[in-house]
This record gives sequence, structure tokens and C-alpha cells, in this order.
Amino acid sequence: MSSANEAPDRWWEGAVIYQVYPRSFADANGDGIGDLAGIERHFDHLRGTDASLGVDAVWLSPIYPSPLHDFGYDISDYTDVAPEFGTLADLDALIAAAHDRGLRLLMDLVPCHTSIEHPWFVEARSSRSSPKRDWYIWADPSPAGGPPSNWTAVFGGSTWEWDEPTGQYYLHSFYPEQPDLNWRNPAVAEAMADVMRFWFRRGVDGFRVDAIFAAIKDDQLRDNPPDRRPGAIPGLGVGGGQDPLWSLHRPEVHDVIRHLRRVAGEFPGRVLVGEAYVPVEELARYLGHGADDEFQLAFNFELLLSPWEHQHLTLAIERSEALHPAGVWPTYALSNHDQSRAATRWGPERARVAAFLLLALRGVAVLYAGEEIGMVDADPALLPQPPFDRAGRDGCRTPMQWDATPTGGFTSGRPWLPLVDPATRNVAAQRGDPDSLLSLYRRLIAARAEVPALGQGRHRSIFGIAPDVLGWVRELEGERVLVLINTGAEVQACSLGSVGADTGEVVVATGRRVGRVDLAGLRLEPLEGVALRL
Ligand code: GLC
Repeated sequence: MSSANEAPDRWWEGAVIYQVYPRSFADANGDGIGDLAGIERHFDHLRGTDASLGVDAVWLSPIYPSPLHDFGYDISDYTDVAPEFGTLADLDALIAAAHDRGLRLLMDLVPCHTSIEHPWFVEARSSRSSPKRDWYIWADPSPAGGPPSNWTAVFGGSTWEWDEPTGQYYLHSFYPEQPDLNWRNPAVAEAMADVMRFWFRRGVDGFRVDAIFAAIKDDQLRDNPPDRRPGAIPGLGVGGGQDPLWSLHRPEVHDVIRHLRRVAGEFPGRVLVGEAYVPVEELARYLGHGADDEFQLAFNFELLLSPWEHQHLTLAIERSEALHPAGVWPTYALSNHDQSRAATRWGPERARVAAFLLLALRGVAVLYAGEEIGMVDADPALLPQPPFDRAGRDGCRTPMQWDATPTGGFTSGRPWLPLVDPATRNVAAQRGDPDSLLSLYRRLIAARAEVPALGQGRHRSIFGIAPDVLGWVRELEGERVLVLINTGAEVQACSLGSVGADTGEVVVATGRRVGRVDLAGLRLEPLEGVALRL
């Protein structure tokens, strides 16, 4: 058994997980599309050398065969590797290479829908009496004609697609090329369990579970009411002017999650990270109300969706802490393959302090490849037309910038999406520069490991420090670390009387601050972050 599997079972607590979007990470064979061999070639960037980021795990967005209507999230074979990425043998080699350096490997599980080209759907569609018909959700037109309900799909339009040959509609929560599986059918649950076992047996350490909120729909297909929810989070799951009361986030989804968790539980040390896309108040339910029988982790997108504004950020942190009691870990991300990059949303000047926010909070940090060098979204005018992704997500999926050459060291061929600015931002230039963003990411991740209070400690917020300043203390077994972040553009003099210490020693800082610091009279530079051991 590899070293990765010998570590304690709950290895993910406080872990840093690196998200790779495989098409855009590194291309080893020159076809312009990233591949598994390219990922392995860059493992040194992730873990195992002094110059590595030091992340604990890598999560691969889907690498399965797919006709690419949703770039891999429409899967036509759950138990194989798409030829453009490599072979199953390449994946086995990747898992082994990851484990050799103590890196865990998570895959993406997409349980809610398949591709229209998946043999299950091809079979289901072939006739109303097909044995696979009930693996998907079919319905007759409404009595008045037209779709069976008013539900809108996440990417717009009706959730129902007419299938002329069999005279019924099928349901798709996302694109029409992604028919939803019928999770009320036990055969579907069993088939997905077998998919999970297939990968677990190959050594995969867990799954990021895609779009779980869409797994179960109302069995009576009742119409959704208009959207009147205050503070509904924008993004997936909200749209079409309706509250997806009957079509998404159904209570029965928790039975589905418990099923997935039971299967994961057949294998030691495996983790499930859910994409629930709910406000943090509702996340607790996806984490099993403390019963620990659903997801171990579920994305909290409140930071990602927050404007760079002190009040908003404070609220995002407080809500998260209040709703993730001790033992339940918040899972933060600043961006992903669906959302604008942090440096685009918040501005490149805030990239350093954003890194501090991600990595100094109590939580699991999911770091999207490219954030560590401050990559920005592509200018829409430079992206191919028509776009690859109809929902407009090409801009945050451009290739990783490894060096300053025009193709950024990503490929020797023609990249499938243009690179944004490899000459300005790239790994090679930042690797040896102690003042680079990449070095700051590396120091922050190292500090989480070296100072247990920062990696694993409890969180206590400190209020009223100064305008625009966020502050909290992380504490573990008597060790205390004070974290301060000036979110604003002015120098701030801090009031730290309530902290109960006179001085603190710099563990890590966004700037050049080092040594022991007097807390009385401490002034923070604009957009400065600092962690001080008390
Ligand atoms: C998730 C994925 C997104 C995909 C959708 C449908 O939200 O992150 O990329 O389009 O699910 O699978």
C-alpha cells in the first residue's frame, strides 16, 4: 500500500486541494489539449520538492470520454479515460506517482446526468419499453400540451427536451445533451456505486461530487413558484425568475448523498467533497447535521461570490464559522472552472491578500490551477467564436502559464484556448522570486503545516480592530496565531487590546514584515495580511 493510504483516515481536515482542469493544465503530446502525462510531468509544482506548493491533494475535473457539450461534465463512459487525455494505464501511473510523493488524487463524480451518447441513454431512448427507460426521467406533455412542468434548466430554457421518436419529454437540469438520471430507480444507485468502486479500487482517494443539488426532482413534477427568496445566491441553481422549489435541492437528495457516502465508507480514508451550491445556512444539511453520514466536505461559495468589501467578507466568514461547528470543516475556493478568477473579480492588486484569506481561515482550501500565479480571465474579445462553452465559461479555463513563451510551456502545438498573458505571469518567473505570488502561496501552505494552530486550530473572530481590517485568532493546544487582513486602501492603526498579548512573531505575511511585532500601535499597510504567533 502506498504512503498516501497509510496516513490517518481523516487526512482532508485542513487540507489544501489543488484543482486541475485537465484540458488546460499541461499538454505532453503536442495536440494542444492537456493530458494525464502532462499533469504527471508537473507534479513537482504540486508537492515533493522545496519549490513545490506543498498541496495535499489534486482534484481532476472530468477525464472521462465525453462528446464535450459540457466539456467533460457530459460523460459517455464512467469507467474509462478520454483518448485525448490518455489511457486507463496512464491514470494508474498517475495515481501511483501521486501516492509516491504523498499526494492524494480526487476525481470528479458526475452522478446527476450522463451524456446523450452514454449507452444507458441510447438504450433508454430506443423505445418506451426499453429496460433502461426508467434510468432517466421521461414524461408526457402537460394536459394543455407542451412541457410537463415550467421548470427552467440551470443554463436556461426549459428543463424538458422533446424526443420525437418515442413521443415523450426527457428531463435535463443542465444542457439538453445532459439527460438526468433517475435517482428514484435503485438500479441507477447501484450502477453509480459500481462506478465509485471501480475508481476506489484503482486507488482514487475520493471524489468531488458534481451538482448534487440536481440529483432528485419532485416526483409529481409540480410547477416552480416565482423567485421571491431574499439573498438567493447568484450562479448555478438560480435563474429563469423562478424558485427551483420542486426541481432542485429536494430533501430526498440527502438519501442519495448517504448512499454515496456508504459506498465511500467501504474504502478507508476516502473523501467526498460535495458541490451543493446552497447558501451556507443550508450547507449543514449536506454535511449530515453532524451525523457524519453525508459529505465530509461541501463547497462554501460565499467567499467566492462575495464582493471585495469588508462587511461582506466579515459576514461570509462569520456565517461560515457559525454553521460549521468544531469538527466540520468549511471548504473554501476563490475560483474554479465555472467562475471568474479571483484576480479578475477582485483585481490583481488584491491577489496576495486574497491568498491570505483563502489559506489563513480555518478550512479546507481548494486552489484552482493558475490562481497561485495570479492568472486572470481571458478578454472575451480574444476568445474563439463560437465559444466552446455556451454558458460563457471559456475565459476562466485558459491554459496554465508555465513559462514566458507564447504558448506558456503549456503545449508545443496550438493551444485549444488562447493563453492570456504568459509573458507577464508564469510559474518559471515566479518560482525563484521570493516576492512573487507563487512564493506567497508556498509560504502560506507551508505555514499551515508548520504551525498547527494555523492549519488545524479553532477560529475566534476579533471585531473592531480598525476600519476595513479583518481579524481572527486560530488556537490549538495553547498555541495561538493572530491573523490580520487589511482589506482597504488606507494604512490602518489596529486596536488589539482584546487579543490578550503584547507582541507576536510573524509566521507569514503578504509583504516583507518579519520578526517580532508590538501589537500596541501596529499599523497595517493597505491590502496587507499578516499571521502572528502570540
Ligand atoms: C457543475 C460543474 C459545471 C457543470 C455542471 C453540470 O456545476 O462544475 O462545470 O457544467 O456541474 O455538470
